Amino acid sequence: MKISIQDIEFSYNGVPALESISEKFGKGDFIALVGPNGSGKSTLIKCLNGILKVHKGVVLIDEKAINSLTPNELAKEIAYVPQSENKKPVLTVFDIVLLGRKPYINWKPSKHDLKITAEIINLLHLETLALKDFNKLSGGQQQIVYIARALAQEPDILLLDEPTANLDIRHQVEVLEILKELARKGITIVIALHDINIAVRYASRIMMLKEGKVFASGGKEIINEQNIENLYDIKVKIFREDSRIFIIPEGI
Ligand SMILES: Nc1ncnc2c1ncn2[C@@H]1O[C@H](COP(=O)(O)OP(=O)(O)OP(=O)(O)O)[C@@H](O)[C@H]1O
Ligand SMILES: [Mg+2]
Repeated sequence: MKISIQDIEFSYNGVPALESISEKFGKGDFIALVGPNGSGKSTLIKCLNGILKVHKGVVLIDEKAINSLTPNELAKEIAYVPQSENKKPVLTVFDIVLLGRKPYINWKPSKHDLKITAEIINLLHLETLALKDFNKLSGGQQQIVYIARALAQEPDILLLDEPTANLDIRHQVEVLEILKELARKGITIVIALHDINIAVRYASRIMMLKEGKVFASGGKEIINEQNIENLYDIKVKIFREDSRIFIIPEGI
């Protein structure tokens, strides 16, 4: 599914957070949003799924404006994994993942809903946690459950806000490899990332945001010392080995 962002703007109480953003993402693109704290990554992700209503411009998925879709229609196309969630539901892991099926469920889950839920629990290796109280999991385990809930929506577009921030290195790789495989199957992934090295390794496209504007956008060709230094106001060295790129900060 294609996403077309056409000249959008968003302000919080009159203070601009996003200005004149235009981008096009294709089916199966793996897009990393990078940029300093406060540059607008989370705001952009929330505008893409309609949690925030843009003040100017429009977001289209395929040819449809997202604000013309009902919440259920939207939830079948776009799933969102937030940076954090204040409400921690008193439910088992299984029930939370099943909640992802809500847009498809009439009044009780079908066999198909239960099957998808079980498959996703297996995919993310949550079997041993399935009947545990969500509140008793670690922060990283909870993050993986939120990803599972989003996958249960069977979305065409998956938006994730810093999904690996609480994960150990093994779980980071595990989640990113799963996302890469989903992109290969045609799901469009938009992911806000602080770790520029992870962004460069996994993303097919990188969108750099600075002060609410697109600073640079494109493939790996936009990864150079000048762009990274201007984006984060820090000196870096870039090493290349085969097709891998490593960005090492030098200090301020
Ligand atoms: N609820 C809010 N009310 C007012 N201003 C906000 C709100 N949320 C974000 N902002 C402001 O909007 C700007 C963009 O914030 P946003 O959360 O989108 O940045 P971010 O790139 O996701 O940052 P981080 O890397 O720290 O998560 C910042 O200046 C922030 O202070
Ligand atoms: Mg953020």
